[in-house]
Amino acid sequence: MKIAVIGTGYVGLVSGTCFASWGHDVFCVDKDIQKIRSLERGVVPIYEPGLDELIERNSAIGRLNFTCNLTEALKGAAIVFIAVGTPPRAEHGDADLSFVFAAIREIAPLIEDDTVVVVKSTVPVGTGDVVQKIIDSARKAGSFSVASNPEFLREGSAIRDFREPDRVVIGAEDERSRRVLTQLYTPPLAASNTPIVVTRRRTSELIKYAANAFLATKITFINELADVCEQVGCDVGELALGIGLDKRIGTSFLNAGPGYGGSCFPKDTMALLRTAQDYGVALRIVEETVSANEARKRRMALKVTDALNGDVDGRTIAVLGLTFKPDTDDMRDAPSLPLIETLQRFGARIRAYDPVGNENARQLMPDVKFHDDAYECARDADAVVIMTDWDNIRELDLTRLKRVMRRAVLIDLRNAFEPGLAEKIGFRVSAIGRAAVGRSEIDAMREMPNMRRQIRHDQLGRSA
Ligand code: UDX
Repeated sequence: MKIAVIGTGYVGLVSGTCFASWGHDVFCVDKDIQKIRSLERGVVPIYEPGLDELIERNSAIGRLNFTCNLTEALKGAAIVFIAVGTPPRAEHGDADLSFVFAAIREIAPLIEDDTVVVVKSTVPVGTGDVVQKIIDSARKAGSFSVASNPEFLREGSAIRDFREPDRVVIGAEDERSRRVLTQLYTPPLAASNTPIVVTRRRTSELIKYAANAFLATKITFINELADVCEQVGCDVGELALGIGLDKRIGTSFLNAGPGYGGSCFPKDTMALLRTAQDYGVALRIVEETVSANEARKRRMALKVTDALNGDVDGRTIAVLGLTFKPDTDDMRDAPSLPLIETLQRFGARIRAYDPVGNENARQLMPDVKFHDDAYECARDADAVVIMTDWDNIRELDLTRLKRVMRRAVLIDLRNAFEPGLAEKIGFRVSAIGRAAVGRSEIDAMREMPNMRRQIRHDQLGRSA
């Protein structure tokens, strides 16, 4: 089957490449000629493990093609996927659909009879209806369908997520597009028995936002419980396991951290709130999730300040990991951004290291000194902050790290290290949802609530 994919961002590039690996003839289209030329040469504009080789392999056998020429891409295509970006609009926070509609206007006159136009971009409920109207008014006659097929892949594990999804969602208003899309996904996913949810177009559009809002809420829930753990002397990792093993809750997405970031959760939760507002519906839980997460990201700087007993002005702080999560070079909405900005405002000198994100981070943080090596970054630092749990950061030799630092203070915002071990090496450790406080002290705190803060200050070495 010939498939055209419009947009070579994360979703378009990964989807197109994976469709090609399933044996289809794929044409990936982008307006950016430089990007297309690079892709033709095998230079991939994003960092995604395994993507380079898959692109190279499928390009070499002619199944994967890159072009700026829409006519060439759409000629004889059975399916046209729209996978352009839907970034947040600055003032409103809702999704900017201008790229989607611009792409639709361009393809409308070129669509052949019986072509299925599939919106893969994350779009608000009702966008498919508008797309249908735009194409309708540009075409004189002939049949076509507009369907929705949201993508749930994560950066860093995009290829595996695409090829082994938990489910595929297809939203269609006619039998033809239901059949074409079911046929596309069924054979490659048959072995894994992947469920295919076939629904109406509007429901499919909303599923994507609801999934992201739910996951963002789940993370925010465990993050708030982490705060409780720190106060009452519990371990949030064990707490997450204890609740997550209940199948109704599930153990995944319960890693407490500095707040969620990335290109999807912040943008999609905001866009969902806008939709709810437009329809006069209150989405209080999602509203709270958004504001709790924003506040949390900012509060992480205070955790660093606390660990340094408030003595931040003029201190050197090494931030290890900058991207919003490991295995990506994406800095969009990364929690490291507000953390570094706030610490700089407090007068700290920031040194930073990320295994692949330095280049993107450099453009956003002009006053930071970047390093290509974690130990070099930590040299003479008064504290190290773990922001992203890349494997090579988790595997750092803490003894060696301590040796190069001026003061052994470790603020581990990803719980990458065993605090007991780090303390044994000589670090003062501040982690997430893990209070370094003994049981008897906790009992004392419970009995004397007004003493609680004082005990915590003692524990942080502030008084006496
Ligand atoms: C997300 C959705 O998971 C994916 O289905 C959708 O298609 C796009 O948005 P992505 O943004 O690539 O994917 O990353 P994800 O792994 O979901 O992480 C998002 C953020 O949540 C990161 O900042 C991550 O650190 C944070 N997170 C995730 C946690 O803090 N704790 C967790 O347990 C999981």
